[in-house]
Amino acid sequence: MRKLAAGNWKMNGTSAALAEVKALIGAHPAPPCEMLLCPPATLIAQMARTAKGSALMVGGQDCHPKTSGAHTGDLSAAMLADAGATHVILGHSERRTDHGETDALVKSKAEAALAANLIAIVCIGETEGQRDAGQTLAVIGRQLDGSIPAGATAANLVIAYEPVWAIGTGRTPTLAEIGEVHAFLRARLHALIGAEADGVRILYGGSVKPTNAVEIFAVPHVDGALVGGASLKAADFGAIVAALSV
Ligand code: PGA
Repeated sequence: MRKLAAGNWKMNGTSAALAEVKALIGAHPAPPCEMLLCPPATLIAQMARTAKGSALMVGGQDCHPKTSGAHTGDLSAAMLADAGATHVILGHSERRTDHGETDALVKSKAEAALAANLIAIVCIGETEGQRDAGQTLAVIGRQLDGSIPAGATAANLVIAYEPVWAIGTGRTPTLAEIGEVHAFLRARLHALIGAEADGVRILYGGSVKPTNAVEIFAVPHVDGALVGGASLKAADFGAIVAALSV
């Protein structure tokens, strides 16, 4: 399986930030892994144009479960695809917290993504309190069961394990803790979708930096990363991309 370096720009970036994209593409004409950036929706079309002919793919950060209708401010999966997106991040913990997204809603969004031929990147992860209470595997198992779409395959589903307490904090789980969760997720995916589970990319996310990427990517069942802050600068994200060749 080809590994995936995915960047999540969150609510950061205007057209001026496309200079970073040009720098990234220029520095990595033939990256050792798949390379994806998910900018704010306002930049998807421009970024897709900038990335045309390069190895960089572009994705969204959310979509609505419906295909169209009276949903002010929302975007459908088909609209993201039309703008040039190939992927969409769904159920990020910031959306679960800021917008009260439930597993059932994330699942319906992921099904909408698949119907629009987008690859769904479904995010799950425990809070610090849940980890301290020894509930990590129970929580992420429940989130996985409840969030993955019907019809999921290795080609259309990516899972991102992102401990909530590791996002934007500079803190990460130990390599053993990451390994425990990723092995658990692989086995759970097997129970849910059978042999397709072997090819589903399971990304780690939460304070991935050029300085810790190599050791995190060496953990079994870590098939890439979902990167927030460090994806905003071409040099940092490029170093993480390069680390995926190791
Ligand atoms: P971070 O964010 O890399 O800034 O910790 C990761 C994410 O939220 O996807």
